[in-house]
Amino acid sequence: MDKLHISGGIRLSGEVRASGAKNASLPILAAGLLADTPLTIGNVPHLHDVTTMIELLGRMGVGVTVGEGMHVEVNGGRLTTPIAPYELVKTMRASILVLGPLLARHGEALVSLPGGCAIGERPVNLHITGLEAMGAEIGVESGYIHAKAGRLKGARIVLDTVTVTGTENLMMAATLAEGRTVIENAAREPEVVDLAGCLNAMGAAVSGAGTDTIVIDGRERLGGCEYDVLPDRIETGTFLVAGAITGGRVRVRSTRPDHLDAVLAKLREAGATVETGPDWASVDMHGKRPVAVDIRTAPYPGFPTDMQAQFAALDSVADGVATIVETIFENRFMHMLELRRLGAELRIEGHTAVIQGVPRLSGAPVMATDLRASASLVLAGLVAEGVTDVQRIYHIDRGYECIEAKLRQLGASIRRIPGART
Ligand code: EPU
Repeated sequence: MDKLHISGGIRLSGEVRASGAKNASLPILAAGLLADTPLTIGNVPHLHDVTTMIELLGRMGVGVTVGEGMHVEVNGGRLTTPIAPYELVKTMRASILVLGPLLARHGEALVSLPGGCAIGERPVNLHITGLEAMGAEIGVESGYIHAKAGRLKGARIVLDTVTVTGTENLMMAATLAEGRTVIENAAREPEVVDLAGCLNAMGAAVSGAGTDTIVIDGRERLGGCEYDVLPDRIETGTFLVAGAITGGRVRVRSTRPDHLDAVLAKLREAGATVETGPDWASVDMHGKRPVAVDIRTAPYPGFPTDMQAQFAALDSVADGVATIVETIFENRFMHMLELRRLGAELRIEGHTAVIQGVPRLSGAPVMATDLRASASLVLAGLVAEGVTDVQRIYHIDRGYECIEAKLRQLGASIRRIPGART
């Protein structure tokens, strides 16, 4: 397994370009199943999770062509086999995003039930009850969700908990249902809005995306279109923290700073000078040590759980004591224990971590446990004295495009050691 070898202590400086958003690309690729003509998607990042989704669509008989500059064409017209097999779903939970489109378009879906997950229980009950409210018959057989329906019927669905992929699945299913569907307590994440934008360009009638009530008027059919995925706000935030944690100055271009309000506010609170333009954001830490910042994760527009681990790294070297409360996932603190191996002083009480910042971390071998945990360890490695080897970085390849090349562009000393044993 590859590992990342980092020599820390270099103040980062320079500019990088944000890639397209993973968490928008995945539902938009799945939306290709709804159309009877090809959907061409631009700005798709080159990531393992994207490759997994493309493979999943291919297994269903859907033609997928990957073109220049990560343009992906999905030809849902050829859908033959509405099955998402265990071997793919177990590597990527977002595979559940094919359930709604398959059911709406094909009348049947057999999707492996996602199993355990490193960051929490992550059930899919709200995806299932929402589809049942639209008339689907759903059972679980031999580890698979087996869903059947004639034409789905519009319904009023009140989600118990704000769920991102749950909202996306139901929104996609509703585009081909008969009549009006109203999703209450819907997720407001920019990725949900991006998916709605793509669905509307395909001929759907979705309104209210970005608020907690989404209204979908079902259509007889959807066709393909050309659509560019929005920039990755979490990747952007991660590079900005890389600048801040090293006392440096980093600018991320081709991004959407308006999707990062909560993150930019915390960077300012940490002492960085933050500037933004229409499609860029920058931090300048002027060589200073960050000030500790408290974090409480929440659904958008609150502070994203996908940035919690990166701020834990920042708080590890900050001046002061920080409290981090994780409210979305029950087990998203695995990085904390690895940060301790680098010298971080922290304690965990349930869903709260209390971090006493230390002036310096020291490099050590550490193990990545999930995608954002890996990012946190890379960030800590960038500021730690000496060498940090981050092992099991297949997690980071799921969600960060060319992370080591982009960090090198900012002056970091980081390289991938291929095939190293962990
Ligand atoms: N939940 C339920 N029942 C459901 C669905 C969710 O109880 O049927 C609970 C979850 O257990 C969790 C909460 O609701 O406690 C929120 O989970 P959500 O469904 O919103 O998460 P998700 O849709 O599975 C997406 C992102 C995650 C991101 C979360 C929260 C994608 C592909 N994944 O997951 O991204 O952390 O929303 O913002 O969009 C990542 O990129 O590293 C990542 C994990």
